[in-house]
Amino acid sequence: MGFSTDWLTLREPADREARDHTLLQRAVELAGVDPILMDLGCGTGSTVRTLEPALPEGATWRLVDNDPVLLERALEAAGNTSRGHLVDIDQLDSLPWEGVTLVTASALLDLVTEDWLVRLSEVLTVPFYAALSYNGQMHWDPVDPRDQAVTEAFNRHQRQNKGLGPALGPTSVEKTIEVFEAAGFTVLHGDSPWQLGPEFTELQQALVAGIAQAASEAAGEPDETTAKAWGETRVAQAAQTRCVIGHGDLLIIPRSLSSTVVS
Ligand SMILES: C[S@@+](CC[C@H](N)C(=O)[O-])C[C@H]1O[C@@H](n2cnc3c(N)ncnc32)[C@H](O)[C@@H]1O
Repeated sequence: MGFSTDWLTLREPADREARDHTLLQRAVELAGVDPILMDLGCGTGSTVRTLEPALPEGATWRLVDNDPVLLERALEAAGNTSRGHLVDIDQLDSLPWEGVTLVTASALLDLVTEDWLVRLSEVLTVPFYAALSYNGQMHWDPVDPRDQAVTEAFNRHQRQNKGLGPALGPTSVEKTIEVFEAAGFTVLHGDSPWQLGPEFTELQQALVAGIAQAASEAAGEPDETTAKAWGETRVAQAAQTRCVIGHGDLLIIPRSLSSTVVS
């Protein structure tokens, strides 16, 4: 599936506000004094722009994505020591692991499978900071009686194949904790919900249009007409609506480094 530059640009300020800043700071500390960061599913470079001010000068990025257009944009955001890698993250052996001190990702884990997480847990030897995974929770104010059914349909759609097999979708945060803890990692978790008011009207409009489209394609209730009508109502009311979209941030730390984590 493809992600548009416009959508990623629109969501970046909300993502930045939503991140758990304590976890972000701990991730930066774990990257070390001479960091080499590998960002999986880098998109246009949102994680680079967000972490860069907190990183020591000279930090180097290995940017990984399977979309050449997005990867090009991300490279523009990173310093000239950084490299882009047009690689499918399913090919874990093909990732540029050498020298990496921190793996990062944002808005990625909901697209992956449990099998991918297990395989990653078998090869990961450095910390992994995975931010902004959707957790299945969506609330609007004012409420609409169709919200619950649309949310459930959207969540079913999120579990479909997004390129790597049946996606974890809204279960990604809990499943990632389960897989990595079982493999002996320490996993720190912080909530990172989008809290969108009128200042995010354009993002809200794009978001609810996308949710309505996905919900209309998911099998079961509500039917296509109802899902689309919900979307039209929500788009029209976005400037007067507040919504909360649940996400989680995770910092996954190998056993060998766990003692360095201050609780
Ligand atoms: C939701 S976007 C997030 C982009 C960016 N991390 C951000 O927060 O704005 C997911 C990204 O993962 C990339 N992606 C999805 N599946 C991939 C795969 N199998 N291999 C490499 N990249 C993938 C997409 O191209 C997209 O850039």
